[in-house]
Amino acid sequence: MLTTATSDILDEKNFDNTLRPQYFAEYVGQEKIKRHLDIFIQAAKKREESIDHILLYGPAGLGKTTLAHIIAKEMGVNIKITSGPAIEKVGDLGSILTNLDDGDVLFIDEIHRLNKMIEEVLYPAMEDYKLDIIIGKGPAARTIQLDLPHFTLIGATTRLGSLSNPLRNRFGSTHRLEFYTPEEIEKIVRRSSSILSIGLDEEGAKEIAQSSRQTPRVANRILKRVRDYAQTKDFPTITGDIAREALHLYEIDHLGLEPTDRHILETIIRKFKGGPAGLQAISSVTGEEIQTIEDVVEPYLLQLGFLARTPRGRVVTPEGYKHLDIHMPADHQDKLL
Ligand SMILES: Nc1ncnc2c1ncn2[C@@H]1O[C@H](COP(=O)(O)OP(=O)(O)O)[C@@H](O)[C@H]1O
Ligand SMILES: [Mg+2]
Repeated sequence: MLTTATSDILDEKNFDNTLRPQYFAEYVGQEKIKRHLDIFIQAAKKREESIDHILLYGPAGLGKTTLAHIIAKEMGVNIKITSGPAIEKVGDLGSILTNLDDGDVLFIDEIHRLNKMIEEVLYPAMEDYKLDIIIGKGPAARTIQLDLPHFTLIGATTRLGSLSNPLRNRFGSTHRLEFYTPEEIEKIVRRSSSILSIGLDEEGAKEIAQSSRQTPRVANRILKRVRDYAQTKDFPTITGDIAREALHLYEIDHLGLEPTDRHILETIIRKFKGGPAGLQAISSVTGEEIQTIEDVVEPYLLQLGFLARTPRGRVVTPEGYKHLDIHMPADHQDKLL
């Protein structure tokens, strides 16, 4: 029998897959990226070549993995999916690369977490479609070179800054995914509700969109939680009132801040006098993992302008104080300079 936790995770995965757009036409927003990618794809198809390597970056849940799938689908090629931490040995990468076909997409998620040795094998593979393998040991060792299929590497990362320059430079194009507008999120929520046959009225969609951190993954997750709430109340349709009640119950405020976000802002204010505070310090005081803070919490707080990054660390802004309804000392502003 599945434990609740694993069945939740499976459920979440299924849910993600059901809702994942398959083609550009279903992919809401990110208009500039879609336009650029569409040109690359049309051109490559005309030349009957593979498309150049693509790097996608931006906060979690904005649609990087989805885009990689769409690119492969629009190109009519296979996609092989792996991630930086999953490739442990040079041999792992070698076997992935040699098993690709011409034109295939290799998607490496969290590409900033590839280890150095593997990166170095990737360089000639990306540039010349060559794989250098070392045979034997010590003085008798020699290198042989294998030809690789002309594949397209799509890398995704939440942290462009953690990528080495040589790796970054080997991508033909780099695209930054943006947070979505409220209208775009509403469209996504409506699309998801119709796929899942969830009754949702105009105001309900607006409420959910507003609390979704401008992020599609969050929007879908909140839709599902609000649906659960509506079902327990035997309401067939999610209305504005139902959405507000559910969000209140889940402690998600009208800007989408959750207890963790508020806890982190409050900690910086109370324990670090509003900052500056380093990530490590914030992490040890709040007990939240650095990675969660950096990838999930902080990007949205920065986007809202509640938190600022200074050379000495994170500082809560006057808007951040105001949102938490905490009095800001008069000299605090100077820390933001
Ligand atoms: N532009 C979009 N339009 C519609 N749904 C989207 C869009 N981007 C993401 N989603 C939804 O959000 C979920 C998370 O997106 P994903 O591509 O996994 O994000 P990332 O890889 O950037 O963390 C997907 O399953 C999909 O349902
Ligand atoms: Mg992803």
